[in-house]
Amino acid sequence: MPVEAETDSTPKTILSEPRRGSIPSESKTKIIVPFHRPCLGPEEEAEVIDTLRSGWLTTGPKTKRFEKEFAAYTGAKHAIAVNSCTAALHTSLVALGIGPGDEVITTPITFASTANVIEHVGAKPVFVDVEPDTLNLNPALLEQAITTKTKAIIPVHFAGHPCDMDAIQTIATAHGLHVIEDAAHAIESVYQGKKIGSISRTTCFSFYATKNMTTGEGGMITTQDNELAERLRVLSLHGISTDAWKRYGPQGYKHWDILEPGFKYNMFDIQAAIGLHQLRKIDNFHALRQRWVHRYDEAFADLAELIRLRRRTNITCAFHLYAVRFDTESLSLSRDQIIQKLQERGIGIGVHFRAVHLHPFYRIKYGYCPGTFPVAEYAGDRLISLPLFPTLTEEQIDFVIRGVRDVVIQSRR
Ligand SMILES: Cc1ncc(COP(=O)(O)O)c(C=O)c1O
Repeated sequence: MPVEAETDSTPKTILSEPRRGSIPSESKTKIIVPFHRPCLGPEEEAEVIDTLRSGWLTTGPKTKRFEKEFAAYTGAKHAIAVNSCTAALHTSLVALGIGPGDEVITTPITFASTANVIEHVGAKPVFVDVEPDTLNLNPALLEQAITTKTKAIIPVHFAGHPCDMDAIQTIATAHGLHVIEDAAHAIESVYQGKKIGSISRTTCFSFYATKNMTTGEGGMITTQDNELAERLRVLSLHGISTDAWKRYGPQGYKHWDILEPGFKYNMFDIQAAIGLHQLRKIDNFHALRQRWVHRYDEAFADLAELIRLRRRTNITCAFHLYAVRFDTESLSLSRDQIIQKLQERGIGIGVHFRAVHLHPFYRIKYGYCPGTFPVAEYAGDRLISLPLFPTLTEEQIDFVIRGVRDVVIQSRR
């Protein structure tokens, strides 16, 4: 896939950095520009109050409406609202019959839950290294990770940049594998004219507090498959045949049956009340974040020590994160020391992500050690995410830019 013309930002040395220093637990910092602030307005407040006064708090008419509107937004036939993206991923794996003895391929540059849910169904997460430019799962390395036990691939659209879905789908189809997209960062993303959410067996979204839109906590599963949608719906609410709205709603009580032991993963109407209005604002939020991303891009263009993510053509990036790698070989500071300096200046930051396979559970259980996935490890030791949310101001952006530039320039070797 072609890339935007940019200077070559591919890391030259791909090494796992020894940990130099760490972030002090008790820092003297006072955050002036937070890493994130949710954008909630009077519309969300009024809808929540309306829900509280309606007498119907759990899954009901607002959740149904939210599902319908989300399906329309993503171009999916079905949308099933749940209480997190983690729940969406877990339910997808169960609904597709993935369990003990199976293997599921995913990326090490992701949040804990992408890998954890594979463990939850008793399957084995198999990691594949990422592309150096986007930090998305590298399709060129996919085929060599597939075994007779492989049942599914979970690509993650890191920071909202869509994965190379054509390449992933081609390999998945050739090997009869399911694709479950982790679109926690990618609600607004478009891949070659197709909205993320309309492509794979299931796509899982997050409405966590820091996401592109929020319901506090929450998630959504989209699918084009009628039967799968029904199974996902049943599994997400105890595995029972009717939801609460059908059991206690205006139509009166109906008996229900346990079809299989499912989960308590349903979204409730107070969450959906927020989601309905967030969804209406999402393209506006996206445009505002895009503007800040371009401001950062311009301001950091001359800093060779700051390795930015590339954006390809023929896609829309959701701009969920402004995640950059600091070339710590050219600086006198480690990533954690840079975090400390930025926080001391009042800049709120995040880290997305330290490579999952090197976390204690995965290291101990599967014997992973540094050097296994060099591109992910290089990134995982150097990534910092800067503040990015719609209501940032010019002054706040300038404050962050000044802080980052000062720290880089003052720590040049
Ligand atoms: C890539 C990715 N996948 C999954 C999740 C889990 O989302 P949730 O908190 O809605 O379960 C997150 C949350 O941060 C994420 O970043």
